[in-house]
Amino acid sequence: MTSSLSGRRVLVTGAAGRIGSVTTRHLTELGALVTAFTDVEDGELKADRIVIGDTRSQADVASALEGADAVVHLAALAHPSAGTPYDVYTINVVSTFNVLAQAGALGVGRAVVASSINAFGVPFNPDDIRPAYYPLDEKIPSDVADWYSLSKQNDENTCRMVWRRWGTDVVALRFPHVNSAEVLRRQADGFVRDPAAGVREGWSYLDTRDAAYAIELGLTARLSGAHTFFVAAGTTNAPYETEALLDAFAPGVPRLRRFAGREVPMDLTAARTVLGFRARHELDLPTHGLET
Ligand SMILES: NC(=O)c1ccc[n+]([C@@H]2O[C@H](COP(=O)([O-])OP(=O)(O)OC[C@H]3O[C@@H](n4cnc5c(N)ncnc54)[C@H](O)[C@@H]3O)[C@@H](O)[C@H]2O)c1
Repeated sequence: MTSSLSGRRVLVTGAAGRIGSVTTRHLTELGALVTAFTDVEDGELKADRIVIGDTRSQADVASALEGADAVVHLAALAHPSAGTPYDVYTINVVSTFNVLAQAGALGVGRAVVASSINAFGVPFNPDDIRPAYYPLDEKIPSDVADWYSLSKQNDENTCRMVWRRWGTDVVALRFPHVNSAEVLRRQADGFVRDPAAGVREGWSYLDTRDAAYAIELGLTARLSGAHTFFVAAGTTNAPYETEALLDAFAPGVPRLRRFAGREVPMDLTAARTVLGFRARHELDLPTHGLET
């Protein structure tokens, strides 16, 4: 594989995590010299350089950034219940500020940051609300009522600040549920029994290998500025027609267009046209009738 990343040094934070470990391997296969930053020792982690530290520490991040041409920032507490509300919010926003601001001040040209579908707040909202419309897109109104979603919304603001101040081009990826094909298939089985569970996320998903691919494109796409993209498989991981699901579980929500078959009700135009992203690993599911 030849890539413009060949020989370039890329710092990956959260490198031992679910997305980080697959991304570290993928970027290494493309010829990048990966500095893997992790707060946990992981014997499985293979990278050109491994730095153990805390993304909130100025000294640890300064050390990890040595020689970096680009940054992939994934380290976070990845769920509202992954720690106390204080820890989830502060670890996420302080880490993102620390990593990006130091990278910006050093003149690093490109960063890719893990935002989340939760930046619009609806999926984790404790009230039984629905998105303002389908397909979900980057301009959808937010309604945030938890600290994890708030941290991701804040991270997107940090991305814009860092570009505006230091000129670092930043790609923030709003990942949906990202996991291995095996776990995604189990989630699909769960949606057979309880299809309503996926309505706020539009039953969207992404294979971890495609998350790593989207990160590669975020690092290499010809763009400038700070941009946020929804990325997901083009199909849902519920084995029902999308229109039938929306009729049943979001009947009052405006649809800005119709959806064909199991098409994901998420607007992937920006990711497709600017990044050139199309998922390469989609679940092959049957389409059942929907009985509610
Ligand atoms: N997996 C998903 O479904 C999903 C969906 C949307 C967004 N995201 C985002 O993608 C990123 C990666 O998610 P993941 O699923 O790989 O999560 P993960 O929990 O598997 O990995 C995150 C890694 O960050 C590390 N970390 C946490 N705090 C740290 C600190 N202070 N210093 C250094 N390292 C620290 C953890 O040890 C862990 O290895 C996160 O930002 C997450 O919010 C994930």
